[in-house]
Amino acid sequence: MTAQIIDGKTIAAQIRQRTKEAAQTLCRAPRLDVIMVGDNPASAVYVRNKMKACREVGITAVDHKLPASCSEETLLETIRSLNSDPMVDGILVQLPLPEQIKSGPILENIDPSKDVDGFHIYNTGKLVTTGGGFKPCTPAGIIELLKAIGYSLEGKHAVILGRSNIVGKPLSMLMLQENATVTITHSHTPDLKRYTLDADVLVAAIGKAKFVKADMVKEGAVVIDVGTNRDENGKLCGDVDTENVKEKAAWITPVPGGVGPMTIAMLLHNTLVSAQKRQGLAQ
Ligand code: GUN
Repeated sequence: MTAQIIDGKTIAAQIRQRTKEAAQTLCRAPRLDVIMVGDNPASAVYVRNKMKACREVGITAVDHKLPASCSEETLLETIRSLNSDPMVDGILVQLPLPEQIKSGPILENIDPSKDVDGFHIYNTGKLVTTGGGFKPCTPAGIIELLKAIGYSLEGKHAVILGRSNIVGKPLSMLMLQENATVTITHSHTPDLKRYTLDADVLVAAIGKAKFVKADMVKEGAVVIDVGTNRDENGKLCGDVDTENVKEKAAWITPVPGGVGPMTIAMLLHNTLVSAQKRQGLAQ
């Protein structure tokens, strides 16, 4: 079997187009404020890409650059002023933060109604209970990818490698809501293969280049690769050994062009929804 490619770039472009059309119907353009502390080069690229994507769909993007040495209080002051600004629909604090600032208390100070990253504990609580809050963008994007290929999670076994707050944990909740049976594995899980070989859907989110080998994958599985790594030649690659795994999987996401574009598309979607709510156009 040779896997069909899940074309995240095209699916994300469709979401961006729908977001753009909906944004044009609002009384004022949605606005996202992005805060970056320090000058982590990877974060700088992510922030630039997010701001560019916003502008392409008619979302006003404002960036706030704070020095790496900035105090927690300075960052909190910036967040508080954005919380109380009625023109601001979304607030995003790019992670990771410098060592002296703990991300937990920072994220909890973002107004949950502007938390378009879906990282606030209020939105996390909604995710595990009733749903309805902002969903974290990468997990929400993965669910959209599965919907786009017409794949139903109902009754399926989804196995997630990685238990991060950004991907593994929230994705498990979204997959549960779709009636999958979900297993979360991590660095302390013995005999990983025992789980991965039973996966109808296998999600790799552990940040290890080409970690998932063909002998870990069930014939006909859907394989979702969240990784962004460099291989031994410095070439961009995911957490999956795609060349070999694609001979066993039914569907697979490429890196680049799979999950990555969906994360940004869902951020734009969340910002639009926040603006719609603020303008009384959505619940
Ligand atoms: N750092 C890596 N991924 C993300 C993300 O989705 N949002 C934020 N704010 N920071 C990140």
